[in-house]
Amino acid sequence: MEEKGWEPRIVAFVCNWCTYAGADLAGTSRLEYRPEVRIIKLPCTGRIDPLFIIKAFEKGADGVLVSGCHPGDCHYTSGNYHARRRWIVFRELLKFAGIDLRRVHFSWVSASEALKWRDLINEVIETVRSAGPFEAYRRLNP
Ligand code: FES
Repeated sequence: MEEKGWEPRIVAFVCNWCTYAGADLAGTSRLEYRPEVRIIKLPCTGRIDPLFIIKAFEKGADGVLVSGCHPGDCHYTSGNYHARRRWIVFRELLKFAGIDLRRVHFSWVSASEALKWRDLINEVIETVRSAGPFEAYRRLNP
């Protein structure tokens, strides 16, 4: 159910070395993308604990994006491979828990892919918008 005037709140957990640099390049290149995303920078996607994603939903996010270096480009060698494996299991867990998977996204964006970042953000926002506001936690904690 979509509320009138509602805009989805997206939390993006990104690695410092690739996706954050790509998002920064989008900014310095003055590419326009939707402002509903809040970026949280971490050293590596391998550092992103699945509980961070749950916490983001608990704190009011309607959707979450995790993005880091492309396979083979992780600055810590294999952090993104660990993240990908963890993500595959965690997605299933979220589905089992009744979370609409339109709310959770995973991507690779390199430091030079500002255009990809812009397109990804706009796409994630539209997908989360189609899922409507995430109210499961709000109903539990009014
Ligand atoms: Fe970017 Fe590991 S440093 S995913």
